[in-house]
Amino acid sequence: MSIEVIRGDITKQTVDAIVNAANETLLGGGGVDGAIHRAAGPELLAHCRKMGGCATGHACITPGFQLSADYIIHTVGPVWRGGEANESSQLASCYRESLTLAKQHHCKIVAFPAISCGVFGYPLDTAASVSIAAVIAYQRTHTTPQHVRWVMLDQEVFDIWEATIGIMGKL
Ligand code: APR
Repeated sequence: MSIEVIRGDITKQTVDAIVNAANETLLGGGGVDGAIHRAAGPELLAHCRKMGGCATGHACITPGFQLSADYIIHTVGPVWRGGEANESSQLASCYRESLTLAKQHHCKIVAFPAISCGVFGYPLDTAASVSIAAVIAYQRTHTTPQHVRWVMLDQEVFDIWEATIGIMGKL
C-alpha cells in the first residue's frame, strides 16, 4: 500500500472512492462537503436523508452518483477543542473506519481531504501527523486499498502533508 499527496479538487479525482469531511447530520454543508454534494448531484442528499446520520469518528458509504468515483465515504471528523477532548483518536478513527469501508467495497484507490482541517479547526501539523500515522498503521496489516491519495485544495495544507509524509514515510 502506498500514499501520496497532490494539489487539487477531490471531486475531480478518478478513483474508486473519495472521502467526504461530513458532519453528523450527513445533510451537507460548506467546504469539501458542499463541493462533493454539488458535484454528486441531488440524489446524494436524498440518499443521505435515509441514513440517519453518522457519529464523530465514524464513517458510512454511499454511491458516487454523478461523481466519477464509484463511492463516497462520509466520515465525521472531530471539532478541535484544544487537544484534550480525544480529538486525535477520533481523527485516527475516521481514517481507520474509512479505509475499512473502502476495503469492504474492494476499492483500490481512495482519496482523502484534510479531514477536520477547515471549519473544524484542527491544527494542520498535528492533523497531518495523526492522519498519516493512522494510514501507515492500517497499511501494515492490510493490502487493500492499495493506494491512498490526499487531495489538498490549499498549498499550505499540501506543503505540510508533503513534509510530514517525507518524514513519516521513511520511519
Ligand atoms: N477538494 C479538496 N479539499 C477541499 C475541497 C475540495 N473541493 N474543498 C475544501 N477542501 C479542504 C479545505 O480547504 C480543508 O483543508 O478540505 C479540508 C477540510 O475542510 P472542511 O471542508 O471545512 O471540513 P472540516 O474541517 O472537516 O469541517 C467539516 O464543515 O463543510 C462542513 O458539513 C461540513 O460541518 C462539516 C464541517
